[in-house]
Amino acid sequence: EFSQQAVSWYPTPLGGTSKQWKESYTKAQEMVKKMSLPEKVNITTGTGWQMGLCVGNTGPAELVKFPSLCLQDGPLGLRFAQNITAFPAGITTGATWNRDLMRLRGLALGQEARLKGVNVILGPSMGPLGLMPAGGRNWEAFGSDPVLQGVAAAETIRGIQENGVMATAKHFIGNEQEHFRQSFEWGIPTALSSNIDDRALHEVFAWPFAESVRADVASIMCSYQMVNNTYACENSKLLNGLLKDELGFQGFVQSDWLAHRSGVNSAIGGLDMSMPGDGLHWADGVALWGSELTRAALNTSVPMERLNDMVTRIVAAWYQFGQDSWERPAPDGEGGPNFSSWTKERVGHLYEGSPDKDATGVVNKFVNAQGIGPHAHSNVARQVAAEGTVLLKNINNTLPLLRHDSIPDGKYRVGVYGEDAGSGKGPNACPDRGCNQGTLASGWGSGAVEFPYLVSPWEALQSAWSKDSVDVQGHLTNNVAVEDLADRNLCLVFVNADGGEGFIRSEGVDADRNDLFLQKNGTELVEAVAKHCGGGEGKTVVVVHSIGPVVMESWIDLPGVYAVLYANLPGQESGNALVQVLFGDVDVSGRLPYTIGRSLEDYGPGAQVLYEHSGPSVPQVNLEQGLYVDYRYFDKFNVTPRFEFGFGLSYTTFKYSSLSVEKLQERSQLPAKPPANEVKPLAYENKRDSPSTSIFPPGFRVLRKYIYPYLDSLTGTEPGPYPYPEGYNKRQKPSAAGGGPGGNPSLYEPMLELSVEVTNTGKRTGQDVVQVYVSFPEDVAEHRGLGWSRESIEFPDRVLRNFTKVSMQPGETRTVQMTLTRKDLSYWSVRAQNWILPEGTIRIWAGRSSRNLPLMVEY
Ligand code: NOJ
Repeated sequence: EFSQQAVSWYPTPLGGTSKQWKESYTKAQEMVKKMSLPEKVNITTGTGWQMGLCVGNTGPAELVKFPSLCLQDGPLGLRFAQNITAFPAGITTGATWNRDLMRLRGLALGQEARLKGVNVILGPSMGPLGLMPAGGRNWEAFGSDPVLQGVAAAETIRGIQENGVMATAKHFIGNEQEHFRQSFEWGIPTALSSNIDDRALHEVFAWPFAESVRADVASIMCSYQMVNNTYACENSKLLNGLLKDELGFQGFVQSDWLAHRSGVNSAIGGLDMSMPGDGLHWADGVALWGSELTRAALNTSVPMERLNDMVTRIVAAWYQFGQDSWERPAPDGEGGPNFSSWTKERVGHLYEGSPDKDATGVVNKFVNAQGIGPHAHSNVARQVAAEGTVLLKNINNTLPLLRHDSIPDGKYRVGVYGEDAGSGKGPNACPDRGCNQGTLASGWGSGAVEFPYLVSPWEALQSAWSKDSVDVQGHLTNNVAVEDLADRNLCLVFVNADGGEGFIRSEGVDADRNDLFLQKNGTELVEAVAKHCGGGEGKTVVVVHSIGPVVMESWIDLPGVYAVLYANLPGQESGNALVQVLFGDVDVSGRLPYTIGRSLEDYGPGAQVLYEHSGPSVPQVNLEQGLYVDYRYFDKFNVTPRFEFGFGLSYTTFKYSSLSVEKLQERSQLPAKPPANEVKPLAYENKRDSPSTSIFPPGFRVLRKYIYPYLDSLTGTEPGPYPYPEGYNKRQKPSAAGGGPGGNPSLYEPMLELSVEVTNTGKRTGQDVVQVYVSFPEDVAEHRGLGWSRESIEFPDRVLRNFTKVSMQPGETRTVQMTLTRKDLSYWSVRAQNWILPEGTIRIWAGRSSRNLPLMVEY
């Protein structure tokens, strides 16, 4: 069943099948009916790279008053914009395990987008899912587990879309590494193929996308690379089959920037929007769609019905989030994007990418989107950064620190060490944060923003202690002299590891990391500080900023290392958040969103980045370890991690007791039969438009490199017949696992209600993350009544299925309740092509990490 060969799935299911979207589709269909062919095409195709103020801009349909849409990165803030917030990265947000904070961050991010005139945010990211610990972009997403990713993605989407701004779930799917993600960056003829088997696809990689569809996400971005040797943006099995049929996605699929690789094939494969509009090459003004899609519609190689569906999906999403009530962009109104991605000046080019740089205007209005007073988004940013900090080691309660500290012979002496503590050349020293200097608060690439400010740890620490009793010195370098350590009582050492998106390479890190070690001599720095702090008598506290797990074997057990804080990527409020945690103003309540292994190899052979490739063949990356992502691999193959997924200490202690389950439904192997579509999709006329309206109107002034929907001539517009791929003219049988947003509604019905008592047994108020894991029956599942009796199925030892963060006073006991759905208790049967809740005993665990699960009940 492990496939290197894509299966095809045609035709694209029509949008408009869900009740929730009915009204929007009705309005959209009305509008689309009135559009000319070029207007329709204009909506599906970007205007070209830098041919508008945003990183993506669609063409308008002026006669029906459908505006050009602004699409802007990204997952942690608005890229290329001013007066915005640099929020903590996805990985830090995942580390909070706090649903409310995830939502609040999304809400603030969406509000900033709304104020800046952004229609579509290019985030959140949930792919890479995080199979490869060295992967360059894992930090944009929420952690190496499908449930954690799914919860965080859904909360973020809800938050963003509450503002009427459309969110984008990306990258669909299998963009696990940056090396060879596409051809032009890496100098090879084709992108790599991520080969994914059907079970891991469902149980791991697509899981957070299913949750995103349930959260009503407006858009999904298909990824650069191939999946099973077909490009993701023309992979009909994934886009038509999985996404639009099985998961019931009602919004539109947009391509990653130049992930669009074919004209007709992608259209019938399920793509709805080409970004940024240029086709095979950056900024050459040659499109795969645009006028070519007009031609394809006229000659019927792309059925009119498919084009109508693309446009209707986009227009329906615009109605669904109320964007028809937004102020209209110029020339009719003041709406539209009020910032330029390409200049910081007030006045600039409207079409930066065109050699005809004549059109100028006010492009930056400098709208302050950061929120004010108690609603300042810096508060959310700080809270996420603080709660996303994980305490890994804390000997003798070294943390929290005291603000007033004194020792018999005078002042308490603190030293702060490492380049990562300081401001360096400022946070914006390199484009798209593409270098590691100063304190690390974000990875690099399109998922980064221009920091409005960055409070470094050193800035915040200098005033953190009482000046009368504490002497604080800083040595913000990674080459610390032994003398600078000798008289210190407490040494705080800052170290990091950076990486990011594939279009940037910096200091030998080609986007994906080469290893999991600290960078810039960080390992040596920690070792030296731990050895020499206070002449060997001082206490060292290590603070790590990193895009992912770091191997710490050489220093974690050193006697001088008293405490280790993993602060992930904290965003603009870095130092302020750190001080809150260090001094215990808040409990330290982050939990690891991935496993910290003892070596890179410990994650398994299938979790390694493919770094080398030459020759004309397609690089093959088999994600066959997908089902055993992260802790699932460590558990299954008995590899002892340094710190396991879900782990994190608190300043207080917790006790768990009385786990019980209540059955909410009768147990059965198969979900209820999916309902028929709630709404019958409107069939579109497959009528060919008149070719003459598709020619450039007389006297039309053409802007060089702008992507237009118009044709120069009628060459190639004669209608087919064209042979559509096999199956195109048949209606496919809908998936048995489909029928609602995210799949069969029966899958999302709660089957069990768990209840567990948690007591704060310490002396401080604290927060704990109650984690629920499920173990499936061992190895064999029986399928009586399915016509086949036994199937040998392997399962991970246990998988995360739910979690809740709770805050408790000292001595307080709380009864924490959580449900498990049918899907949580099922596996994807490749044979049945459905979710099956196996017979046999399912064990349900509750506890504080993937390896600290004191309570279990059987079901
Ligand atoms: C490429 C990146 O992969 C994607 O995440 C981003 O949204 C686009 N570029 C636009 O910047």
